[in-house]
Amino acid sequence: MVVTAAEERTSKRFTGEFVDEMRSVAMKLHTKDQAKDGEKETQGKPWRKWEPTIDGYLKFLVDSKLVYDTLDKILDKSDFPEYAEFRNTGLERAGNLAIDLEWFKEQGHIVPEPLSPGINYSIYIEELSKKDPQAFICHFYNTYFAHTAGGRMIGRKVAAKILNGKELEFYKWDGDLPQLLQNVREKLNRVAENWTREEKNHCLEETEKSFEFNGDILHLILA
Ligand code: HEM
Repeated sequence: MVVTAAEERTSKRFTGEFVDEMRSVAMKLHTKDQAKDGEKETQGKPWRKWEPTIDGYLKFLVDSKLVYDTLDKILDKSDFPEYAEFRNTGLERAGNLAIDLEWFKEQGHIVPEPLSPGINYSIYIEELSKKDPQAFICHFYNTYFAHTAGGRMIGRKVAAKILNGKELEFYKWDGDLPQLLQNVREKLNRVAENWTREEKNHCLEETEKSFEFNGDILHLILA
């Protein structure tokens, strides 16, 4: 039997661990057109009807790179010991994005400077990371996991529409992605075992902020 990526995720979804709570809160914050567990009403055009442009997509890639660079920098510095757990997970994206941006340059495109969605989010998580590990780890989870789920679907759609189907490095991982994700889920569960219920709730409450910031960056695709 062929197991699809979605089934693979589902089968690992309900282990009763903290990461299941993180996922459940995140799924509800999707709009109904984005995911079947989404509870929010769709505002504006459903994402499948987006009309991306190369310029907009480049803005999205540049701002995404800034955010992934910032996340890596925070984890390297590790103001809190639990951050060190999340270094070198294999999910890192900044290096792959650098290769993609180089490819766009070679194709004659001008790679823009980062814009406010990426800059504001980077400043926000950098400040947060110094004082609020539970909230910061919420952003780490949502940003990295969102990209492996909806982010990949969006990437495929954009590539089909404006890149002749070219698959960017942003959407490729060294190794088995479901396994890399599972390793990080286990680390998240381990770290959260030391949190009080209040700290866990605080982490979950930050999910909405992550959706707002990441949503603004995604919408650059249409800019
Ligand atoms: C999972 C779509 C935006 C965070 C998913 C799934 C879908 C999806 C279909 C379920 C995947 C599966 O079960 O295999 C989308 C679409 C989006 C979008 C179409 C925008 C157009 C976002 C945003 C965030 C986010 C802005 C927050 C930063 C997540 C998370 C998961 C998820 C954390 C769970 C991943 C996992 O458990 O492995 N998304 N999403 N998504 N999404 Fe989104």
